[in-house]
Amino acid sequence: MGLVSAKEMLDIAYKNNYAVGQFNINNLEWTKAVLLTAEENKSPVILGVSEGAAKYMAGYKVVADMVKAMVESLNITVPVALHLDHGSYEGAKKAIEAGFSSIMFDGSHYAIEENIKLTKDMVSRTRALGISLEAEVGAIGGEEDGVVGNGEVADPAECKLIADLGVDFLAAGIGNIHGKYPANWQGLNFDVLNEINKVTGDTPLVLHGGTGIPADMIKRAISMGVSKINVNTECQLVFAAATRKYIEEGLDLVGKGFDPRKLLGPGTQAIKNVVKEKMELFGSVNKA
Ligand code: 13P
Repeated sequence: MGLVSAKEMLDIAYKNNYAVGQFNINNLEWTKAVLLTAEENKSPVILGVSEGAAKYMAGYKVVADMVKAMVESLNITVPVALHLDHGSYEGAKKAIEAGFSSIMFDGSHYAIEENIKLTKDMVSRTRALGISLEAEVGAIGGEEDGVVGNGEVADPAECKLIADLGVDFLAAGIGNIHGKYPANWQGLNFDVLNEINKVTGDTPLVLHGGTGIPADMIKRAISMGVSKINVNTECQLVFAAATRKYIEEGLDLVGKGFDPRKLLGPGTQAIKNVVKEKMELFGSVNKA
Protein backbone atom coordinates (compact mmCIF):
# COMPACT_ATOMS: atom_id res chain seq x y z
CA MET A 1 0.00 0.00 0.00
CA GLY A 2 1.28 3.52 -0.77
CA LEU A 3 0.91 6.44 1.60
CA VAL A 4 -2.62 7.23 2.74
CA SER A 5 -4.40 10.25 4.16
CA ALA A 6 -4.79 10.06 7.94
CA LYS A 7 -8.49 10.97 7.80
CA GLU A 8 -9.96 7.51 7.53
CA MET A 9 -7.69 5.91 10.15
CA LEU A 10 -8.48 8.67 12.65
CA ASP A 11 -12.24 8.67 11.98
CA ILE A 12 -12.23 4.92 12.70
CA ALA A 13 -10.07 5.41 15.83
CA TYR A 14 -12.43 8.18 17.07
CA LYS A 15 -15.48 5.95 16.67
CA ASN A 16 -13.81 2.99 18.34
CA ASN A 17 -12.10 4.79 21.24
CA TYR A 18 -8.46 4.30 20.52
CA ALA A 19 -5.69 6.57 19.20
CA VAL A 20 -3.16 6.28 16.38
CA GLY A 21 0.39 7.34 17.26
CA GLN A 22 2.26 9.98 15.32
CA PHE A 23 5.94 9.17 15.70
CA ASN A 24 8.33 11.85 14.47
CA ILE A 25 11.16 10.66 12.25
CA ASN A 26 14.66 12.08 11.90
CA ASN A 27 16.53 9.77 9.57
CA LEU A 28 16.47 6.41 7.81
CA GLU A 29 16.92 4.34 11.00
CA TRP A 30 14.01 6.15 12.69
CA THR A 31 11.75 5.62 9.70
CA LYS A 32 12.61 1.93 9.43
CA ALA A 33 12.10 1.37 13.17
CA VAL A 34 8.64 2.97 13.15
CA LEU A 35 7.45 1.27 9.95
CA LEU A 36 8.63 -2.20 11.02
CA THR A 37 7.05 -1.86 14.46
CA ALA A 38 3.74 -0.77 12.94
CA GLU A 39 3.79 -3.77 10.62
CA GLU A 40 4.75 -6.21 13.41
CA ASN A 41 1.88 -4.92 15.54
CA LYS A 42 -0.64 -4.56 12.70
CA SER A 43 -1.18 -0.93 13.65
CA PRO A 44 -1.96 2.05 11.45
CA VAL A 45 0.75 4.69 11.87
CA ILE A 46 1.51 8.33 11.18
CA LEU A 47 5.09 9.40 10.51
CA GLY A 48 5.53 12.99 11.69
CA VAL A 49 8.10 15.29 10.09
CA SER A 50 8.73 18.79 11.44
CA GLU A 51 10.01 21.48 9.09
CA GLY A 52 13.37 21.29 10.90
CA ALA A 53 13.57 17.51 10.47
CA ALA A 54 12.67 17.82 6.77
CA LYS A 55 15.47 20.36 6.33
CA TYR A 56 17.89 18.06 8.19
CA MET A 57 16.97 15.18 5.83
CA ALA A 58 17.73 17.43 2.81
CA GLY A 59 14.15 18.44 1.97
CA TYR A 60 10.51 17.35 1.75
CA LYS A 61 11.00 15.44 -1.48
CA VAL A 62 13.84 13.34 -0.05
CA VAL A 63 11.63 12.45 2.92
CA ALA A 64 8.54 11.65 0.83
CA ASP A 65 10.50 9.55 -1.67
CA MET A 66 12.39 7.70 1.07
CA VAL A 67 9.23 6.87 3.00
CA LYS A 68 7.33 5.76 -0.12
CA ALA A 69 10.23 3.57 -1.26
CA MET A 70 10.66 2.08 2.20
CA VAL A 71 6.98 1.21 2.53
CA GLU A 72 7.29 -0.64 -0.77
CA SER A 73 10.65 -2.33 -0.14
CA LEU A 74 9.77 -3.50 3.37
CA ASN A 75 6.35 -4.75 2.18
CA ILE A 76 4.51 -2.64 4.71
CA THR A 77 0.80 -3.47 4.49
CA VAL A 78 -0.61 -1.35 7.35
CA PRO A 79 -1.91 2.16 6.56
CA VAL A 80 0.93 4.73 6.69
CA ALA A 81 0.40 8.50 6.58
CA LEU A 82 3.31 10.89 6.07
CA HIS A 83 2.40 14.01 8.00
CA LEU A 84 3.95 17.48 8.16
CA ASP A 85 4.17 18.43 11.86
CA HIS A 86 3.53 22.09 12.80
CA GLY A 87 3.72 23.32 9.24
CA SER A 88 3.85 26.98 8.32
CA TYR A 89 1.74 28.15 5.37
CA GLU A 90 4.73 28.05 3.00
CA GLY A 91 6.05 24.78 4.46
CA ALA A 92 2.66 23.17 4.03
CA LYS A 93 2.54 24.12 0.34
CA LYS A 94 6.01 22.62 -0.20
CA ALA A 95 5.18 19.37 1.64
CA ILE A 96 1.97 18.99 -0.40
CA GLU A 97 3.96 19.42 -3.60
CA ALA A 98 6.57 16.87 -2.46
CA GLY A 99 3.93 14.16 -1.90
CA PHE A 100 3.11 14.22 1.83
CA SER A 101 -0.25 12.53 2.45
CA SER A 102 -1.19 14.58 5.51
CA ILE A 103 -0.53 18.14 6.65
CA MET A 104 -0.66 20.06 9.87
CA PHE A 105 -1.08 23.75 9.29
CA ASP A 106 -0.26 25.38 12.61
CA GLY A 107 -1.83 28.84 12.67
CA SER A 108 -2.15 28.86 16.46
CA HIS A 109 0.30 31.74 16.88
CA TYR A 110 -1.83 34.04 14.68
CA ALA A 111 -4.88 35.99 15.83
CA ILE A 112 -7.94 33.73 15.45
CA GLU A 113 -9.21 35.66 12.36
CA GLU A 114 -5.92 35.05 10.54
CA ASN A 115 -5.79 31.42 11.70
CA ILE A 116 -9.31 30.95 10.27
CA LYS A 117 -8.41 32.62 6.97
CA LEU A 118 -5.25 30.57 6.39
CA THR A 119 -6.72 27.29 7.67
CA LYS A 120 -9.69 27.76 5.30
CA ASP A 121 -7.30 28.16 2.40
CA MET A 122 -5.49 24.97 3.47
CA VAL A 123 -8.79 23.06 3.69
CA SER A 124 -9.44 23.73 0.01
CA ARG A 125 -5.85 22.97 -1.05
CA THR A 126 -5.70 19.62 0.80
CA ARG A 127 -9.26 18.51 -0.01
CA ALA A 128 -8.70 18.87 -3.71
CA LEU A 129 -5.86 16.33 -3.43
CA GLY A 130 -7.31 13.91 -0.86
CA ILE A 131 -4.68 14.93 1.70
CA SER A 132 -5.74 15.11 5.37
CA LEU A 133 -5.44 18.34 7.32
CA GLU A 134 -4.77 19.03 11.00
CA ALA A 135 -5.22 22.54 12.39
CA GLU A 136 -4.29 23.96 15.77
CA VAL A 137 -5.87 26.26 18.32
CA GLY A 138 -4.08 27.39 21.49
CA ALA A 139 -0.32 26.92 21.11
CA ILE A 140 1.19 23.78 22.61
CA GLY A 141 3.82 24.73 25.19
CA GLY A 142 7.48 23.79 25.30
CA GLU A 143 9.95 24.12 22.49
CA GLU A 144 9.35 22.83 18.97
CA ASP A 145 12.08 23.69 16.46
CA GLY A 146 13.00 26.83 18.33
CA VAL A 147 9.40 28.05 18.80
CA VAL A 148 8.65 28.32 22.51
CA GLY A 149 5.09 28.32 23.92
CA ASN A 150 3.68 28.20 27.44
CA GLY A 151 1.24 25.28 27.64
CA GLU A 152 -1.84 27.30 26.68
CA VAL A 153 -5.36 26.08 27.15
CA ALA A 154 -7.46 26.56 24.02
CA ASP A 155 -10.77 28.40 23.96
CA PRO A 156 -13.49 25.83 23.02
CA ALA A 157 -15.42 28.48 21.05
CA GLU A 158 -12.34 29.08 18.87
CA CYS A 159 -11.91 25.31 18.48
CA LYS A 160 -15.45 25.13 17.12
CA LEU A 161 -14.78 27.92 14.62
CA ILE A 162 -11.73 26.09 13.26
CA ALA A 163 -13.34 22.62 13.33
CA ASP A 164 -16.34 23.97 11.40
CA LEU A 165 -14.04 24.94 8.52
CA GLY A 166 -13.89 21.22 7.73
CA VAL A 167 -10.44 20.31 9.04
CA ASP A 168 -10.00 16.54 9.39
CA PHE A 169 -8.59 16.62 12.94
CA LEU A 170 -7.81 19.29 15.45
CA ALA A 171 -4.96 19.92 17.90
CA ALA A 172 -5.99 21.99 20.89
CA GLY A 173 -3.83 23.02 23.82
CA ILE A 174 -5.08 21.49 27.08
CA GLY A 175 -2.02 22.19 29.22
CA ASN A 176 0.17 19.74 27.26
CA ILE A 177 3.71 20.72 26.31
CA HIS A 178 6.42 19.43 23.99
CA GLY A 179 9.51 17.86 25.51
CA LYS A 180 9.94 16.71 29.12
CA TYR A 181 7.23 17.80 31.58
CA PRO A 182 8.48 19.88 34.51
CA ALA A 183 8.10 18.41 38.01
CA ASN A 184 5.41 20.98 38.86
CA TRP A 185 3.27 20.28 35.76
CA GLN A 186 -0.45 20.57 36.51
CA GLY A 187 -1.53 17.72 34.22
CA LEU A 188 -4.02 17.82 31.34
CA ASN A 189 -7.11 19.99 31.66
CA PHE A 190 -9.90 17.44 31.16
CA ASP A 191 -12.72 19.92 31.73
CA VAL A 192 -11.56 21.91 28.72
CA LEU A 193 -10.95 18.75 26.66
CA ASN A 194 -14.48 17.60 27.40
CA GLU A 195 -15.85 21.00 26.40
CA ILE A 196 -13.84 21.02 23.16
CA ASN A 197 -14.98 17.49 22.29
CA LYS A 198 -18.61 18.50 22.81
CA VAL A 199 -18.51 21.56 20.57
CA THR A 200 -16.38 20.12 17.74
CA GLY A 201 -18.83 17.35 16.77
CA ASP A 202 -17.07 14.19 15.67
CA THR A 203 -13.79 15.83 14.67
CA PRO A 204 -10.96 13.63 16.03
CA LEU A 205 -8.76 15.53 18.48
CA VAL A 206 -4.96 15.48 18.59
CA LEU A 207 -2.80 15.39 21.71
CA HIS A 208 0.67 16.82 21.16
CA GLY A 209 3.51 16.41 23.66
CA GLY A 210 2.88 12.68 24.18
CA THR A 211 6.25 12.17 25.90
CA GLY A 212 5.89 11.68 29.64
CA ILE A 213 2.09 11.92 29.96
CA PRO A 214 1.05 9.24 32.50
CA ALA A 215 -0.86 6.24 31.09
CA ASP A 216 -4.06 6.98 33.02
CA MET A 217 -4.23 10.51 31.55
CA ILE A 218 -3.61 9.13 28.05
CA LYS A 219 -6.50 6.69 28.46
CA ARG A 220 -8.81 9.35 29.83
CA ALA A 221 -7.93 11.69 26.96
CA ILE A 222 -8.71 8.92 24.44
CA SER A 223 -12.11 8.42 26.06
CA MET A 224 -12.78 12.15 25.45
CA GLY A 225 -12.13 12.20 21.71
CA VAL A 226 -8.33 12.19 21.40
CA SER A 227 -7.59 9.94 18.41
CA LYS A 228 -4.04 10.96 17.49
CA ILE A 229 -1.16 11.24 19.95
CA ASN A 230 2.21 12.71 18.97
CA VAL A 231 5.42 11.27 20.37
CA ASN A 232 8.86 12.63 19.56
CA THR A 233 11.15 13.39 22.53
CA GLU A 234 10.72 9.96 24.13
CA CYS A 235 12.16 8.20 21.07
CA GLN A 236 15.04 10.69 21.00
CA LEU A 237 15.82 10.09 24.69
CA VAL A 238 15.90 6.28 24.43
CA PHE A 239 17.89 6.43 21.19
CA ALA A 240 20.51 8.64 22.84
CA ALA A 241 20.64 6.53 26.02
CA ALA A 242 21.11 3.25 24.12
CA THR A 243 23.81 4.77 21.89
CA ARG A 244 25.58 6.24 24.93
CA LYS A 245 25.56 2.83 26.65
CA TYR A 246 27.01 1.11 23.57
CA ILE A 247 29.88 3.59 23.39
CA GLU A 248 30.47 3.76 27.14
CA GLU A 249 30.76 -0.01 27.19
CA GLY A 250 33.46 0.36 24.53
CA LEU A 251 31.55 -1.79 22.02
CA ASP A 252 32.47 0.53 19.16
CA LEU A 253 36.09 -0.51 19.79
CA VAL A 254 35.41 -4.24 19.55
CA GLY A 255 35.87 -5.74 16.08
CA LYS A 256 33.86 -3.70 13.57
CA GLY A 257 31.68 -2.21 16.30
CA PHE A 258 32.31 1.22 14.80
CA ASP A 259 30.28 0.30 11.69
CA PRO A 260 27.18 2.56 11.78
CA ARG A 261 25.05 -0.47 11.02
CA LYS A 262 26.18 -1.82 14.41
CA LEU A 263 26.64 1.46 16.28
CA LEU A 264 23.08 2.62 15.56
CA GLY A 265 21.54 -0.81 16.22
CA PRO A 266 20.78 -0.49 19.97
CA GLY A 267 19.28 3.00 19.51
CA THR A 268 17.10 1.78 16.66
CA GLN A 269 15.90 -1.18 18.77
CA ALA A 270 15.14 1.23 21.65
CA ILE A 271 12.89 3.29 19.33
CA LYS A 272 11.10 0.09 18.28
CA ASN A 273 10.45 -0.77 21.93
CA VAL A 274 8.96 2.67 22.69
CA VAL A 275 6.79 2.66 19.56
CA LYS A 276 5.41 -0.81 20.44
CA GLU A 277 4.72 0.26 24.04
CA LYS A 278 2.84 3.37 22.83
CA MET A 279 0.81 1.44 20.26
CA GLU A 280 -0.28 -0.93 23.04
CA LEU A 281 -1.16 1.98 25.35
CA PHE A 282 -3.03 3.87 22.62
CA GLY A 283 -4.99 0.73 21.66
CA SER A 284 -4.02 0.70 17.98
CA VAL A 285 -2.47 -2.81 17.91
CA ASN A 286 -4.29 -5.18 15.51
CA LYS A 287 -6.42 -2.31 14.18
CA ALA A 288 -4.86 -2.31 10.70
P1 13P B 1 7.01 15.31 22.42
O1 13P B 1 8.33 15.62 21.82
O2 13P B 1 6.82 15.96 23.75
O3 13P B 1 6.75 13.84 22.49
O4 13P B 1 5.89 15.95 21.49
C1 13P B 1 5.81 15.58 20.14
C2 13P B 1 4.86 16.41 19.39
O5 13P B 1 3.85 16.84 19.89
C3 13P B 1 5.17 16.71 17.99
O6 13P B 1 4.26 17.58 17.41
